[in-house]
Amino acid sequence: MADLGWGIAATGGIARTVAEVIAAEPGMRIAAVASRSLERAAAFAAEFGGTAYDSYDELCADPAVEAVYVATPHAQHLAVAEAAIAHGKAVLCEKPLTTSAADTERMVRLAREAGVFLMEAMWMRFNPLIRLVKESVTDIRSVQASFGFALPFDAAHRLYAPELGGGALLDLGIYPFGLAQLLLGQPASVHVTGSPAPTGVDAEAGGVLIYPSGARGLVDVSLLADYPNTASVVGASLRAEIDAPFWAPRRIVLSGPGVEPSEHLLDPAQNGYVGEVREVRDALAEGRTESPVMPLDESLAMARLLDDARGQVSKLYL
Ligand SMILES: NC(=O)c1ccc[n+]([C@@H]2O[C@H](COP(=O)([O-])OP(=O)(O)OC[C@H]3O[C@@H](n4cnc5c(N)ncnc54)[C@H](OP(=O)(O)O)[C@@H]3O)[C@@H](O)[C@H]2O)c1
Repeated sequence: MADLGWGIAATGGIARTVAEVIAAEPGMRIAAVASRSLERAAAFAAEFGGTAYDSYDELCADPAVEAVYVATPHAQHLAVAEAAIAHGKAVLCEKPLTTSAADTERMVRLAREAGVFLMEAMWMRFNPLIRLVKESVTDIRSVQASFGFALPFDAAHRLYAPELGGGALLDLGIYPFGLAQLLLGQPASVHVTGSPAPTGVDAEAGGVLIYPSGARGLVDVSLLADYPNTASVVGASLRAEIDAPFWAPRRIVLSGPGVEPSEHLLDPAQNGYVGEVREVRDALAEGRTESPVMPLDESLAMARLLDDARGQVSKLYL
């Protein structure tokens, strides 16, 4: 079978990281790259291979491209994904899929109607240690996770700019909320508080998710302060301490009443980026249009949850 041809949409930070993974992975290659600037696309293509385009639409139309990796800022994901889906291409789209539940519903509906593969690039779910926690810790009573770092205010920065989908909840929140979602499912209620950046996006937020069993998710995100960025998952018979960064851990410790603590280390060759691009390759080879590891219904549920959380925070200061 021929190598899977990827089209890389954008040349920013994460596009480069994932392109390095694709270029090193058997069974796939970079067929094309697009940027708003032909010069940037050409420089990227010179390094990783493929045809350079100065238009995301042209990349999506290239017959050598079978899967498009969307690595623009969140507010610019939908337009690229729509073009890819219209050309019948599989889509691996960076997280969060879009900046609202309505737009995420649109992206998912278009992919399902076209019968093309779509997956949110939630690489955390492909980290083998996160999967070990999911398999080992049962009867969970509490998931605590934080993701915060002090980012000096800059109105033009993607994380502070509303037109680029800025805000701590959209960019960082998807990890602690996403860990709780992976381990506990859908909350019965969500209570979030936070405070704004000068551009009006949320600069920090935190809250509690309450599940039908009474279990709790305690989450914090911030662009204002450095947090531990660890996670603790407490089950009735086993507890997991997940090292920072909890969304890409290299070490976890499992312990519990009468259970000797055991340390588990990540095999660096098996990180979350490797897992997510392999998932796309395998899904296409098997004719699947969704991933059971990151199902679209869970991306939809997360988009609704983030809408709810952002709505609660913005009500505090609008
Ligand atoms: N999975 C992860 O570990 C991870 C990590 C970081 C970010 N992300 C996600 O990946 C996406 C991109 O993040 P990033 O950190 O790579 O951002 P970035 O470094 O700012 O790169 C974004 C790229 O998008 C392109 N772009 C298209 N329209 C744009 C616009 N209107 N303004 C600015 N750039 C535009 C630009 O490439 P051209 O100039 O070439 O067009 C730019 O280089 C976000 O959705 C983010 O949440 C994921």
